[in-house]
Amino acid sequence: MTRQHFDRRSFLQTSAAIGAAATISAPNILRARNLNEKLNIAIIGAGGRGQYNTGQFASENIVALCDVNENNLNAAAQKYPKARKETDFRKLFDQQQEFDAVVVSTCEHTHAFATLPALQLGQACLL
Ligand SMILES: NC(=O)c1ccc[n+]([C@@H]2O[C@H](COP(=O)([O-])OP(=O)(O)OC[C@H]3O[C@@H](n4cnc5c(N)ncnc54)[C@H](O)[C@@H]3O)[C@@H](O)[C@H]2O)c1
Repeated sequence: MTRQHFDRRSFLQTSAAIGAAATISAPNILRARNLNEKLNIAIIGAGGRGQYNTGQFASENIVALCDVNENNLNAAAQKYPKARKETDFRKLFDQQQEFDAVVVSTCEHTHAFATLPALQLGQACLL
């Protein structure tokens, strides 16, 4: 990629990818786990990208789903009926001990707010 083509969107995408990779490699909770165990994953944002991202983790335990849009939330819950459902991600983090990692697939202006609590708790986070 030339310098000219490294625009703001590319920068943000690259930064997010590097940030996610760095975060995934770092959390204490993951390093302390038995590597043969499945991870417990919480999903925030179950729209188009959220469905795709959730599918990427289908072999792990999807333990919680959160979306402000109840149609999207219920559609995701049909695929993962054992997962706890929330419409407010702050309530999701009230029970943060139940999951190891969070997948955030909300729209851009809510990414930071949904991601920060996970980072503060030392959880892995995929944006
Ligand atoms: N769709 C794609 O192919 C694609 C590809 C790469 C990246 N992205 C990025 O993924 C993000 C989501 O895109 P999308 O296409 O899935 O949009 P979308 O509108 O289909 O889904 C976003 C979901 O987030 C939910 N949401 C919004 N605020 C929330 C909150 N505070 N708490 C919980 N849930 C909340 C919405 O209700 C919706 O279900 C965007 O940042 C987009 O740029 C999308």
